[in-house]
Amino acid sequence: MKTLKIAIQKSGRLNEKSVELLKNCGLNFENYKSSLISPVSNFPLEILFLRDDDIPEYVQDGIADLGIVGENVIQETEVEVSYLQKLGFGKCSLKIAVPNNNTITSLDQLNGKAIATTYPVILGKYLKEKGIQSDIRTISGSVEISPGLGLSDAICDLVSTGGTLKSNGLAPFADVMSSEAVLIGSKGSENDDLVKELIQRIQSVLRAKE
Ligand code: PRP
Ligand code: ZN
Ligand code: MG
Repeated sequence: MKTLKIAIQKSGRLNEKSVELLKNCGLNFENYKSSLISPVSNFPLEILFLRDDDIPEYVQDGIADLGIVGENVIQETEVEVSYLQKLGFGKCSLKIAVPNNNTITSLDQLNGKAIATTYPVILGKYLKEKGIQSDIRTISGSVEISPGLGLSDAICDLVSTGGTLKSNGLAPFADVMSSEAVLIGSKGSENDDLVKELIQRIQSVLRAKE
């Protein structure tokens, strides 16, 4: 019999809620921090623990049949996958932020300025739509420290509680997109009976929470 694979975030904002959702679906598995793959004992499923940024490609390529990841990461990687279900957790927004003491008050003022981000694709589209030409500097993490280091004038990163912005002396300035965790599948996976069964279980867990 076929065994499905679902990819979830190894550590970070979505990890705990993703594990909780799968457990609430009645799936039995060990959640060791050190093991990157965990078999489910009572359903033909294996759980892969990955960096969230890698999940869309794994699902697009069919290495994982399913994945739980933020919409922001899916948009950024521009993959072709099926959106199967919004999951109602991991809500956050991608925002442009500037230092508290900054004089930037309108989008226009970002013309010619350097913006550091992990989301160059989404930010690039947004700025293009607004007719703004900034210098997008792509970095892979700790984006919030870059203005303080003199590496950029502004940043574009995910904001959830706002704690990271605040503790780095930054203030939100413009909303680029809002996001939440979604269940995605490889194209056509929605026709698989096991996938259908799992989606039904997830939907009934979500309904019970309403
Ligand atoms: C996001 C983002 C910020 C932080 C903001 O990281 O990059 O650093 O969360 O959260 P806060 O507003 O609650 O302080 P994420 O969890 O997506 O991890 P990753 O960037 O390592 O993938
Ligand atoms: Zn990430
Ligand atoms: Mg981050």
